[in-house]
Amino acid sequence: MMPAFTFSPVSFMFHLFPRAVCLGLLLGTGWLAACQSPTNSNQREQDMQTDLPDSAQNPRPQVTSGPWGRTDGLDVRLYTLTNAAGATVKITNYGAAVTHLLVPDRQGQLADVTLGFDSLVGYQSHPHYFGAIVGRYGNRIAKGKASLYGRPLDLAPNNAPNHLHGGRKGFDKVVWQAAEFTTDSTAGLKLTYASRDGEEGYPGNLQTEVTYTWGPGNSLRIDYQATTDQPTVVNLTNHAYFNLSGQLGNPVLEHQLQINAARFLPVDATLIPTGELKPVQGTPFDFTQPRAIGQAIGQTTDEQIKRGGGYDHCWALDGPANTMRLVATAYEPTSGRMLEVLTTEPGLQFYSGNFLNGKIQGKGGIAYPHRAGFCLETQHYPDSPNRPDFPPTSLRPGETYRSTTVYRFSTR
Ligand code: BGC
Repeated sequence: MMPAFTFSPVSFMFHLFPRAVCLGLLLGTGWLAACQSPTNSNQREQDMQTDLPDSAQNPRPQVTSGPWGRTDGLDVRLYTLTNAAGATVKITNYGAAVTHLLVPDRQGQLADVTLGFDSLVGYQSHPHYFGAIVGRYGNRIAKGKASLYGRPLDLAPNNAPNHLHGGRKGFDKVVWQAAEFTTDSTAGLKLTYASRDGEEGYPGNLQTEVTYTWGPGNSLRIDYQATTDQPTVVNLTNHAYFNLSGQLGNPVLEHQLQINAARFLPVDATLIPTGELKPVQGTPFDFTQPRAIGQAIGQTTDEQIKRGGGYDHCWALDGPANTMRLVATAYEPTSGRMLEVLTTEPGLQFYSGNFLNGKIQGKGGIAYPHRAGFCLETQHYPDSPNRPDFPPTSLRPGETYRSTTVYRFSTR
């Protein structure tokens, strides 16, 4: 298992920002404020105003919640997290899913930038993992089979012929326990789920904890943690689909995407990595400079694009894993909205919504067309249990799985 991740917010901040900015921020606000984009001066001004003691100008972050249905004999609720700037994230304890993400455009207009449903039944009845936490193993394990410390792992082939996203009833389809919290600068929700030994074929009782923290600078931080009582495998991620235009009925092909990765993982015809870490240079997978998602997505002469039906691949991220670093940026030119992704994970699955086909009716009755959203899933590489050369995803008793990702929204 990877060594426990110890994150130093101060060194991370100095790594990312000029020294003077960091010192000012350190003296002033908490570390999440430091996650603001250095390009976003309007947002910075707004946040500085919200630092004033006047409570009218500086509303405290808050969490409210209401009933959202019942399933498996358990209550489902919808939680609304509002930060001091008035931007809002809604999360349900069904699948620990982010259902709404209201962030401003460059004119300050809030719009929802994530795909999902208006009610619980949408999440129960549709596949595609909208906004949810996927696990116990996010992404694919070839044919659901692997060997774990000499013992066979035998998981359901729910995405024939492979195992995908935790099985038939993964972490996206269970009810989590939720506890809300606020601090002076953040609103948060801690979700826990006890996955029992044998659930979906995975060995060991797994105690899982996912904490969402919605902070200043419109940063959504996700901290993952898990422990087990038998050797098992763990690879947790969030499966939000983003559409930064706020027009959820439109494809995302104009978004400019950058991924800080010199290599990606080519896949076989069933989307299992071949084992190669291939340089992106000169391929449609080169996002080392910002490039429109749609620019090369139609290049059907490229075997990998053909296999994925677009982008459905893992990038081997630059920089050391277990260290928080900026790994991807998406920018939507008409709204000016920008999303930055920071993570401790070694990989990023960029999925361009290729399986959306206009048949699923989402929020406000919008039928989500092909590529109405894209996912940036921070994770370990797919099929790691079968690849001793990939960063390991095994977890043993006494060890703690830890992972952190920040989705930070700004404008330019
Ligand atoms: C996978 C896709 C899969 C999708 C399901 C993504 O994470 O990479 O292959 O179809 O999830 O919505």
